[in-house]
Amino acid sequence: MRRVYASPSQRRRFRHDHPPHRPHHRRQPRLGRNTALNLARKGVDVIVTYRSRADEAKAAIAEIEAAGGKAAALELDTGAVATFPAFVAALKKTLQENWQRDRLDYLVNNAGTGLRKMFAETTEREFDTLMNIHLKGVFFLTQALLPLINDGGRIINVSSGLARFSVPGSAAYAMMKGGVEVLTRYLAKELAARRITANTVAPGAIATDFNGGHVRDDAEINRVVAGMTALGRAGVADDIGPMIASLLSEDNRWVNAQRIEVSGGMNI
Ligand SMILES: NC(=O)c1ccc[n+]([C@@H]2O[C@H](COP(=O)([O-])OP(=O)(O)OC[C@H]3O[C@@H](n4cnc5c(N)ncnc54)[C@H](OP(=O)(O)O)[C@@H]3O)[C@@H](O)[C@H]2O)c1
Repeated sequence: MRRVYASPSQRRRFRHDHPPHRPHHRRQPRLGRNTALNLARKGVDVIVTYRSRADEAKAAIAEIEAAGGKAAALELDTGAVATFPAFVAALKKTLQENWQRDRLDYLVNNAGTGLRKMFAETTEREFDTLMNIHLKGVFFLTQALLPLINDGGRIINVSSGLARFSVPGSAAYAMMKGGVEVLTRYLAKELAARRITANTVAPGAIATDFNGGHVRDDAEINRVVAGMTALGRAGVADDIGPMIASLLSEDNRWVNAQRIEVSGGMNI
């Protein structure tokens, strides 16, 4: 069985049959949990991480186990580089205790927070928070985990459609995602000696808890997003998780150094 370290997720079951201009009033799963579940369905064992919601991580594990998979959860703040050595130690212990092995096959860098602030009003503190989580965290966590990733392994970094098109109020967030996309290409180049691939998955606007759940809960934003999207609605987590799981399958082993947008065709 293979395994991955993915990121955490959300709460209840989702549906993706909402009409385009209606906000989602129920909580929607997060991308990390949906990805973990879809990997489990493909026979991939998963280690999810959570920052503060141990209860959600527990629920994610229960959901994976109910689907016949195996999972574990570890606490992690991806914005706190100083904690990474302790995380790596905990990860090694978890791998040994649960799977009697030392290494991972896949790494999905998914954790992240957003910010809706115009360029002129964005503070240094807000900028640093985003940088620590989205840029520094992805860079140094991946570096710290490299010795634990098998040769021939895969790395996926989650970016955003906002790194391609510009929506006012997203400058700081989007530039971090842009940096991650550049990093991904360099990872693909430098890790090729170990046959490790690296790709970026860039979701469009997805109805999750992200940014206070604005795509899901704000009817006007949901309508605007649907209007910007060729397929005529905002995305849901279940539009993304299965795609990431399939990108990590053998069928996609030759895909490398790519940025794949998964947005239903936003701003095309
Ligand atoms: N939703 C969208 O519209 C959208 C679009 C494009 C890209 N993305 C990207 O997709 C990824 C997942 O977003 P989502 O929509 O699933 O958002 P979400 O529902 O808000 O979930 C974000 C997850 O990241 C975790 N997290 C946040 N900061 C963390 C930190 N410092 N350390 C560890 N974990 C942390 C959160 O854990 P806690 O609950 O413990 O804070 C939460 O589980 C993010 O990278 C986001 O930038 C989202």
